[in-house]
Amino acid sequence: PVAPPCTFVIFGATGDLTRRLLMPALYNLTRDGLLHDDFSVLGIGHRPWDDNQFRGCLDQMMEELHPPHAEGGPSFDAGIWRNLLSRTFYLVGDFEDAATYRALAQRLERPATGGSAVFYLAVSPGYFEPVVSRLSAAGLLEQGGPRWRRIVIEKPFGRDLPSARELNQSILRVADESQIFRIDHFLGKETVQNIMVSRFANSVFESNWNRQYIDHIQITAAESIGVERRSAFYEQTGALRDMVPNHLFQLLAMVAMEPPNSFAADAVRTEKEKLLEAIHAQTPDQALANSVRGQYRAGYVNGRLVRGYREEEGVAPDSHTETYVALKLSIDNWRWAGVPFYLRTGKALARRTTQIVIRFKDAGHMLFRRSASDKPPANTLVLQIQPDEGLFFHFEAKVPGPRIRTRPVSMDFRYADHFQVAPSTGYETLIYDCMTGDATLFQRAADIELAWKAVLPFQDAWADGEGRIYEYEAGSHGPEQAIELLARDGRRWQPLR
Ligand code: BG6
Repeated sequence: PVAPPCTFVIFGATGDLTRRLLMPALYNLTRDGLLHDDFSVLGIGHRPWDDNQFRGCLDQMMEELHPPHAEGGPSFDAGIWRNLLSRTFYLVGDFEDAATYRALAQRLERPATGGSAVFYLAVSPGYFEPVVSRLSAAGLLEQGGPRWRRIVIEKPFGRDLPSARELNQSILRVADESQIFRIDHFLGKETVQNIMVSRFANSVFESNWNRQYIDHIQITAAESIGVERRSAFYEQTGALRDMVPNHLFQLLAMVAMEPPNSFAADAVRTEKEKLLEAIHAQTPDQALANSVRGQYRAGYVNGRLVRGYREEEGVAPDSHTETYVALKLSIDNWRWAGVPFYLRTGKALARRTTQIVIRFKDAGHMLFRRSASDKPPANTLVLQIQPDEGLFFHFEAKVPGPRIRTRPVSMDFRYADHFQVAPSTGYETLIYDCMTGDATLFQRAADIELAWKAVLPFQDAWADGEGRIYEYEAGSHGPEQAIELLARDGRRWQPLR
């Protein structure tokens, strides 16, 4: 169904996020007929542009994404794009000036929308609090009757537990929790949402989904790109903050939470928060022993020479920012007691792959052992988030012939073989859900704080220069020490595929 009409206000309209993701997502929603005829976009930015200049800039970006003569690319409908652009407007304004909000108030008074609006904060984190409190001071967060006002806040939401808490507190002083949509774009990925469907719409998995049958779980988000043009941000952030308390923990929560009572937003979020709350708090010594940090040096990624991280523009030549992190965690609850969770993420690795690997325990009694030391590999279920999205089950089969010999084989489900997946940015579902008021895929204040709390032992352990940063070659599978992290438990990472 079509989302209710509203004005979609983007703070930070001239930035990268708007051009690369938000507008393409709105285009896709228009294409799919999910936006109301009275939907419109109002971009707010510092640049002294008018509507046409703003549209021109968006147009240019769209042309780059969809070159007119590209062969085989997804078809692009210029008519649909023009239609969206004709409903896209621009307001020049300083985010800290009350005049901006007075002008905004006037622009929101459109009878067709009843004044309903999404305020999308595509701004640097330093502006989150100032924008929200000015929206409130101008009376723009007041709702009533059919009118709703919602705020979407991007990551990074804080940089540690105290700063996230402070941000939550100052926002919740002026806005209601139900108005705040803290976004984690991983939750917009079809395959991430499918984790819940796989687990809870099928009986075969859930009965084995516990410490009795599962040996351990691996969660990997490997990227082949380096820091690109974001070194100023990345130098202050590093791999842990950038990826772990948000994206990796969302995957962790999806794969490990208890079945929610229903698919209602609060039921799902409560279970996710309970899981995050159960992450074992490690002592500083344990945190040091159970983590590996790495930084890439020069190397070849897919045959292309990549500069080392410290040679990137804007990176200190003696930078101590990690571009790779691997962690071993455990979950203090009945289901997962004694089951290690290994997480890793890094830049400039051999391949881009995001996956969850469920490694089952060995068969109880091994009938088909080839020799004392040679046993078949354990059953493995791979939830492949991206690319080549799907679900793959590796198991052992008999090799045809008179003798009993076994070999690992795989049962593969690929999205592309079963569904026609329209090109998407991953933001479509999230934007649509926000407009329809469905907060299931957004994080509550507690979710964010529990996640920061869970990484605190690592942040503390590494403070004051404790804990080495190991080099790894760009294009490799990460530092050797990360292999060691599993090897000492007699385990191995799933190869990056
Ligand atoms: C972002 C991080 O949140 O997620 C980036 O800031 C990272 O550093 C990106 O590259 C990964 O997202 P995706 O959707 O490309 O896997």
